[in-house]
Amino acid sequence: MHVAVIGAGVIGLSTAQCIINRFHSIVKPLTIVVYADKFTPQTTSDGAAGLWQPYVHDRGILEEVKWNKETFDYLLSYVNSPDANEMGLFLQSGYNIFKGQVPVDPSWKDAVLGFRHLTDEELKLFPGFSSGWFHTTLILEGKSYLPWLMERLKEHGVQFVQKKITSFQELSPDFDVIVNCTGIRAQELQPDPELIPARGQVIKVYAPWIKHFILSNDDTTTIYSMPYIIPGSKLVTVGGIFQLGNWNEENDSEDHKRVWEGACKLVPSLKNARIVEDWTGLRPCRNRVRIERQTINAGAEKFEVIHNYGHGGFGLTIHWGCAMEVGNIFGRILQEMKPSWKSQL
Ligand code: FAD
Ligand code: BEZ
Repeated sequence: MHVAVIGAGVIGLSTAQCIINRFHSIVKPLTIVVYADKFTPQTTSDGAAGLWQPYVHDRGILEEVKWNKETFDYLLSYVNSPDANEMGLFLQSGYNIFKGQVPVDPSWKDAVLGFRHLTDEELKLFPGFSSGWFHTTLILEGKSYLPWLMERLKEHGVQFVQKKITSFQELSPDFDVIVNCTGIRAQELQPDPELIPARGQVIKVYAPWIKHFILSNDDTTTIYSMPYIIPGSKLVTVGGIFQLGNWNEENDSEDHKRVWEGACKLVPSLKNARIVEDWTGLRPCRNRVRIERQTINAGAEKFEVIHNYGHGGFGLTIHWGCAMEVGNIFGRILQEMKPSWKSQL
């Protein structure tokens, strides 16, 4: 069984890991090759702060709620393991604060730890904000997690090829199944008008005195376009910018100014922080994540593609649940190819 995964961000690597974990002892031989033109530390997944937090306003997509929770539970099972540090995984507590109408509680309030509403005393810390939440969640830093995943995959003989893929047909003669984890660039392989970039720009600063995350929101702007501050293992990530339809991958000085002024207003001690770098990335936004099997006919031949892209501003948050779903689809394809495997899958 030969599998190609296109994409080496959090989605591609975790999907490859999930397929290996679930099927390597059943399907022999099972070979996986990961193709990508960019590997860590150059993917979108490397630049994200890695906070486990789905969107504040529920999209009402029950599968996504389930995949988010599965990812949280999976990561929580690792947080006290010796691997946690190498994975870039740790617990982190902090605030979501709101201007305007008090939002309804999020779908994920029981997934995270100790979700509660802010007291009036706590709200005094955030002048101009009228309500808020406090909870403990996880941070999973792509810059550590991606190399950790690659090491685990190499232990299972997975190969990595640096190459831009221009069509599924380029790979189909050599592979039984192709898994498409190309993030915002999925349109290069197949048109998808639903997939839209939401450009983000963040500033990474050295400010070790910042111990809690703060995400600010109001009901008149889009998510992540209000200031946010997320302390990581070494640096604090300061945002936020959310520009739908903007493909510019360069840092912008006006956006830098907006982010910095907004964050310093929220937490004035940041003025003393040392700025380390700016980073710009494109969130692969879609009305819903695309996890879908597609059988493509190419002349007399046909081949299987499993799509897994469109994870917006929550790829780290949802990745493992999505990888498991792809694993389920992969299992069904295996059954069709070889019904005798059925009892083991
Ligand atoms: P990517 O990481 O972009 O990987 C795509 C891969 O596909 C790359 O390896 C690329 O080279 C490859 N590829 C694409 N096309 C081709 C091709 N034709 N041939 C070969 N290779 C190809 N999410 C969270 O959960 N928490 C956060 O705190 C968070 N913060 C964020 C902050 C910002 C500013 C941004 C922009 C995003 C943030 N996100 C966050 C969202 C998260 O970064 C994305 O959802 C996630 O990185 C998407 O992962 P991916 O693997 O699909 O894409
Ligand atoms: C973002 O996309 O900017 C983001 C995502 C999750 C948490 C914080 C910020």
